Amino acid sequence: MSQLSNPSQAFLRQRGQLSGRILLCSPPADAIAAELRQTGVEVSVLSWDHTAVNACRGAVAEEWLFTDLALPADAQWDQIALFMPKARELLDLMLSVVAPALKHAQHIWLVGEKREGVESAAKRLAKEDWDATKVDSARHCQVWSLTPPADWKPKQNDFWRAYELAQEKVDTLQLFTLPGVFSAGRLDEGTEVLLQSLPELHGRRLLDFGCGCGVIGATLKKRYPKASVELTDINLLALKSAARTAEANGVELNVYASDGLAEVQPGVDAIITNPPFHQGVKQDTRVTQQFLRDCARVLKPGGSLTLVANRFLPYPDWIEAHVGPVRVLFENSRFKVYHAVR
Ligand SMILES: C[S@@+](CC[C@H](N)C(=O)[O-])C[C@H]1O[C@@H](n2cnc3c(N)ncnc32)[C@H](O)[C@@H]1O
Repeated sequence: MSQLSNPSQAFLRQRGQLSGRILLCSPPADAIAAELRQTGVEVSVLSWDHTAVNACRGAVAEEWLFTDLALPADAQWDQIALFMPKARELLDLMLSVVAPALKHAQHIWLVGEKREGVESAAKRLAKEDWDATKVDSARHCQVWSLTPPADWKPKQNDFWRAYELAQEKVDTLQLFTLPGVFSAGRLDEGTEVLLQSLPELHGRRLLDFGCGCGVIGATLKKRYPKASVELTDINLLALKSAARTAEANGVELNVYASDGLAEVQPGVDAIITNPPFHQGVKQDTRVTQQFLRDCARVLKPGGSLTLVANRFLPYPDWIEAHVGPVRVLFENSRFKVYHAVR
């Protein structure tokens, strides 16, 4: 059996009761879909995580793999499994998207790690008159069985948050974010100092790696209208946010999913980024370390990297090793903006 995360293992302990057509909502990026299919279950998946979607490909027919904010109106499932998302507000978005299917399902499961708040989520639903029963506890996870009240309606149907950003030299930008997208509803302090200390950039291909709502990419396109600006992220809700930001500001941005730089073609003139340093709640610099290694493949010789980070992170050595000598363009008590030319 391939490596399965703890929530997937906890869910598979219910296999005696898993049958018919099951919709997995935000499953972990592991082999859960393939494992379930082997038990004779017909699997569909709703996910906004590029890595999880890729992990499910092959086990789920393409037409039953949903990455949007709505499910087909007439789709029905015998069972629905909600995997606790890392950002808790995403659970409300997920419930709103699956709402039309909930009343037809005979069984609704909620599965998640204890430290990611599965119990408090179940208890919150119980306060809203859901029937919520804990059915299993294993591998640091809990599995709950849920039934919504007959008259249940999702709380909110507009999950978008917006803010405006006035900057020197460019028009005020409108930024849009969905739940779970970095810096929802406000500009991050690190991104702010990065944008304020951007050097003059050269070349036609600019890349905003880990774009979130697209604030860096949209700023670049406003400053360099002739450049082709690419924005990548692993979070499909970030990409939807960036696409809405592009539309709202009347700019053409090339927004696409990529885990690190995996999908980025070589020949980039400049990368401008506030890269991730968390996985869930834990600090984790592995994505950025791999990103810096891959900069050597993606950046043209003479191409530049401009990156903001918390000043305690060990990035200068890594940038020096993979890109080139580092200049500090800005620093304060929390952040440093680094610049290097390959
Ligand atoms: C610190 S946020 C910056 C967001 C945005 N650029 C800003 O400044 O507001 C880092 C972004 O990296 C994305 N990310 C995390 N892991 C990633 C990966 N493996 N590949 C691509 N993007 C990733 C996150 O989803 C998040 O949007």
